[in-house]
Amino acid sequence: MREQEFHWFRGFLEKKSGIIITPDKKYLIQSRLQPLLRSHAISDLNKLVDCVRQSENSPVASAAIDAMTTNETLFFRDQYPYDALSEMIFPELLKKGRSTIKVWSCAASRGQEAYSIAMVANEVLPQGQHMVKILGTDLSTEAIAYAKAGVYSEVEVKRGMPAKRLERFFNYDDKAKDWRVSSILKGMVDFQTGNLTDDGLVMQARRQGSFDVVFLRNVLIYFTVEERKKVVDRIAKTMHKGGYLITGAAEIPSGNESEWENVRFQGKRLWKLL
Ligand SMILES: C[S@@+](CC[C@H](N)C(=O)[O-])C[C@H]1O[C@@H](n2cnc3c(N)ncnc32)[C@H](O)[C@@H]1O
Repeated sequence: MREQEFHWFRGFLEKKSGIIITPDKKYLIQSRLQPLLRSHAISDLNKLVDCVRQSENSPVASAAIDAMTTNETLFFRDQYPYDALSEMIFPELLKKGRSTIKVWSCAASRGQEAYSIAMVANEVLPQGQHMVKILGTDLSTEAIAYAKAGVYSEVEVKRGMPAKRLERFFNYDDKAKDWRVSSILKGMVDFQTGNLTDDGLVMQARRQGSFDVVFLRNVLIYFTVEERKKVVDRIAKTMHKGGYLITGAAEIPSGNESEWENVRFQGKRLWKLL
């Protein structure tokens, strides 16, 4: 890939997704975009960048952004957020007399995070499946399509999922040799594409009402410090005062406008909107 195309694509990616690729990571862009040449019948990477440049909202442009996202995730990642939900946050909301609880997984990837939240809600809340509404959003259209389908391989379910939950909330398909999310969980979660760096996201999320809990995990790391602040402020606008923001273990939210109280749970930090 020529330098000029490389730099244009870095700028395009940052503008469209907030994702920063440093100038020393040309190899990363090349290796992630390479598979698109075959699927889109394009002869080389410079031509692919040309196609994206000509139409920034075309399917090939969207596939190029998708290819640059890192969708690594697993069920019950880090465990403590899910213990916090069952032992602290859900009981606190019940005490407040809430009849509907809203949770947002806003970098949902392939859906494991949102379905993990649904499983916990189903276990600990009376009438869990009627009481909790979960929204899962992600920039990647491919990841959201996967999440909506709710079909996971043996390897995916073995990463992080206790056997009891697998038995209770998934159905094994003998022919396909994969696991399908039960209709109860599916009914609790709504998946949509959504870009954290886009102001329109606030309106999109608000259509669901205000959120009691937002999972913003393992995504802030891809943005500049300035962009992180904007993202955190955007999310704060969609939350109830006193709502909880759960970031990745090493991610600290700081907004320009929003303020957060640091709450400790199992020695880890959670954030409460003031
Ligand atoms: C490493 S995964 C984290 C998934 C999950 N939250 C977890 O902790 O396991 C990061 C996700 O952030 C998504 N992402 C990256 N930039 C985004 C943006 N601007 N808006 C929404 N999602 C984004 C990626 O597509 C990817 O699925």
